[in-house]
Amino acid sequence: MRQRKAKKRPVAKPAATAKKPWGGRFTEATNALVEEFTASIPYDWRLYAYDIAGSIAHAAMLGETGIISDREARKIIAGLKDILKEIGAGRFPFRTELEDIHMNIEHRLIRKIGPVGGKLHTARSRNDQVALDIRMYVRDEILKLRELLLGLERTIVDLAVREQDTVMPGYTHLQRAQPVLFGHHLLAYYEMFERDRGRLLDCYRRVNILPLGSGALAGTVLPIDRKFVANILGFDGLSENSLDAVSDRDFAVEFVAACSQIMIHISRMAEELVLWSSAEFGFITIADAFTTGSSIMPQKKNPDVAELSRGKTGRVVGSLMALLTILKGLPLAYNRDMQEDKEPLFDAADTVSATVEVVAAMLNSVTVHRGAMRHAAEDGFITATDLADYLVRKGLPFRQAHEVVGRAVLRAIELECGLMDLSLAEYRKLSPLIRNDVYKALSVEASVGRRTSAGGTAPANVRSRLAQLKKLLPSSGPARAGR
Ligand code: ARG
Repeated sequence: MRQRKAKKRPVAKPAATAKKPWGGRFTEATNALVEEFTASIPYDWRLYAYDIAGSIAHAAMLGETGIISDREARKIIAGLKDILKEIGAGRFPFRTELEDIHMNIEHRLIRKIGPVGGKLHTARSRNDQVALDIRMYVRDEILKLRELLLGLERTIVDLAVREQDTVMPGYTHLQRAQPVLFGHHLLAYYEMFERDRGRLLDCYRRVNILPLGSGALAGTVLPIDRKFVANILGFDGLSENSLDAVSDRDFAVEFVAACSQIMIHISRMAEELVLWSSAEFGFITIADAFTTGSSIMPQKKNPDVAELSRGKTGRVVGSLMALLTILKGLPLAYNRDMQEDKEPLFDAADTVSATVEVVAAMLNSVTVHRGAMRHAAEDGFITATDLADYLVRKGLPFRQAHEVVGRAVLRAIELECGLMDLSLAEYRKLSPLIRNDVYKALSVEASVGRRTSAGGTAPANVRSRLAQLKKLLPSSGPARAGR
């Protein structure tokens, strides 16, 4: 099994046997292999707090509507609170033969408070119960992840503030293209992560719908009050179709898709950190605390955190594929296949949270080598586009300007120099429009400084974006989840 927290919680081997809550129509005991094979308790125990909160709300509603008596409801709720404590303290006797967290808790409740515990499952099915638990879980994970992303954004913005005047080569095809501010480059990632936060919030709106009250698939004959439960549990609405509510997991797919996109953004940033920290680039040093050594090559200092973040992307995208494939072709309504939703869902959420947190800390540890970045940005041809724009400003159509500059580059390669070093005489052979002011236009400062179009890399633009973001993301104090 992949590393997951479920391992920490020991699950008892099948005890002599606990009578199955559904055992009435069976004449034979379940095969031991089947018990192992069908059990979800090794991982769905993690839903216990949601399961209990959902059951407490359900019991309160059963009491409120008179489906059970107030006394019975109070007894059930007290028993559930006790069980919550037991599990929290590691004293709960988990049993594989009770399949899942729902039946483990219900069985325990009946053990503790007697047959009245059997009234909890009135007007409810495990199908709407598990749909509820997962929605509550995803809801919390979304809020947590949005906060962690905010922390990463803060780190990015703080680094961009420190490096707002640092010039680096911008790349296309990993070839030096045009000079940009390092702050501008960093803020590209801010934009990505902010869209990711938006995607999570979008997803939240569809997650936060109460499925409980759908019964097994068709609703219930009992006079339940779904709004009452929704209010207690903080849901914004009720599912409109019982079949849909118990049988879709599109909200989980959406969440894991958003997680995958986050990982893909992180892996792109991680790849840059790997490149930049190599001797070939030498743009940054990642602090010792966030790198690791080699067991054979004593000189090595490896960017393992960045590499693993890149690598774990495969795992999260894999979880997305698993979820999609589990749902494909399932007839309505609930099918046991759907139990397989949990491991990929939990693993994706755990992986993304851990990655976002460690990447933010690692990024914060980076030392930037401004001189090396600057040196690379002074590559002899990096302002070739600026030379073309210079000619455009003198009235030459851009296509012709492009041609002239291409020939200038060719000439400079012949003479083994950069565009800055070509003499005015050489330039005038290429175009009579070129004057002595060309050298100013070819400087890195001019190149960056002139890119004032909205969203461009000009220092004035970057400064004003940073000022906006500093206001949006105060460095101290908890940020609001709903931002
Ligand atoms: N452990 C099951 C799951 O995760 C709970 C629902 C089971 N429902 C059923 N009818 N077998 O999906």
